[in-house]
Amino acid sequence: MRIAVAVDGPAGAGKSTIAKVLAKRFNLMYIDTGAMYRGVTLLSKRNNVSPEDTDILCRLIKSLEMHFSNDRLIINGEDVSEEIRKPEISNNVSLYAAIPEVRELLVQLQKEMSKKYDVVMDGRDIGTVVLSEAPFKFYLTASPEVRAKRRYDELLENGINVEYNNIFQDIIKRDFIDTTRKANPLKKADDAIEIDTSNLTVLKVVDKMSNYIRRKMSNQL
Ligand code: DC
Repeated sequence: MRIAVAVDGPAGAGKSTIAKVLAKRFNLMYIDTGAMYRGVTLLSKRNNVSPEDTDILCRLIKSLEMHFSNDRLIINGEDVSEEIRKPEISNNVSLYAAIPEVRELLVQLQKEMSKKYDVVMDGRDIGTVVLSEAPFKFYLTASPEVRAKRRYDELLENGINVEYNNIFQDIIKRDFIDTTRKANPLKKADDAIEIDTSNLTVLKVVDKMSNYIRRKMSNQL
């Protein structure tokens, strides 16, 4: 049986950093589903496809070859990993991610990936929709201030100059859109383990998750 670990939570909760370390520890493939929504947003922008053009958008998505290679997102042979982190994509991605048809296509792709590989997948609807049968589910949270500071530091590190307050407002806006949209809103799965990462190091969180996975694997839970 394939191993599947679902990691959900709001932007900046530490999901991707933590999921990458967990993936190494358990030899799993890391799938960043947020990057996939960002990739669709990038390609839509490049092709001038607005979120209202649902049919054209779906055709565009179906024409894309999307895969991960060493945690990099490759679309039609191009490594778009850096470009999808830019503010113009961050500011628009929630609009594209809220479209049911877009979600349907990407969820299908994500399910196919989980059939081919042992995965740790992070996103917003992994434990509730994409990997609803996964034996290991986690819901990571942190205060909006801590999450905004993390995003701010990350962007500065990548040489992208931003105002902390803009990032904070963006986090609040994205939380609202992600939790209130009709299609697969961000929600903790009933059987997910919730961890507040505000005052924990990455390794401490990964240790907590690893202990849970090992205990469950050996039927101690
Ligand atoms: O995790 P992130 O910031 O890269 O996610 C980008 C956007 O995509 C964010 O607005 C939430 C959305 N998203 C989603 O709706 N469902 C997922 N499984 C992953 C991300």
